[in-house]
Amino acid sequence: MLITVSGLLSRDELADLRDQAAGLRWRDGAETAGAQARRVKRNEQADLSSRAGAKIRERLLEAISTHPVVSAAAQPMRFSRPLLSRAGEGGGYGLHVDNALMGHGEGRIRSDVSYTLFLTDPADYAGGELVIEHPGASQALKPPAGDLVLYPSTSLHRVNEVRAGSRLAAVGWIQSRIRDSAQRELVFDLENLRTELASSHAPESPEMLTLSKTISNLVRMWAEA
Ligand code: NI
Repeated sequence: MLITVSGLLSRDELADLRDQAAGLRWRDGAETAGAQARRVKRNEQADLSSRAGAKIRERLLEAISTHPVVSAAAQPMRFSRPLLSRAGEGGGYGLHVDNALMGHGEGRIRSDVSYTLFLTDPADYAGGELVIEHPGASQALKPPAGDLVLYPSTSLHRVNEVRAGSRLAAVGWIQSRIRDSAQRELVFDLENLRTELASSHAPESPEMLTLSKTISNLVRMWAEA
């Protein structure tokens, strides 16, 4: 399931974040990629180990991890540390699959859901679409700044070459309580249905009770605790 969550950050927050990001130290993104991804990765990654960097990371993680739609869609168990990625003219990231395991030691997670939080206004760069490959089709995304795209980490994806301007984005990974994407989607759909039905049905109605029972029992069947 691929979903776009709108307006994670306000215009003011975005402007401030872009300002802060410009003052960070930036390194060649290929340094941090796996052997296969390194050959197709043409971007820069911010060094977030500084105090200013840690602050940005905290703000990003806060915005992402507390959003109710992210929670409902990804069923997060653990979050990776977000990364800041920048691609100027000629930059991009060729077709690749994300590593299955991310981070080290205590911070190690399995990547089930990948996300990209767009931080640059689409009018300020040409190209730079996030393209997700599905069987038999591909989907190109270039949403407004402040929007977050969630997609299964199991998919091949790429970032089209930036033809003008510069594209800033935060990327990261979520280990889900429900590792299978199709199962996660079923729970998400039923959760949304429950929200819809709540406007016309009392909580103790047979319809609501049956739906809640079904959701609970599917989560029991599929979730890791
Ligand atoms: Ni990727």
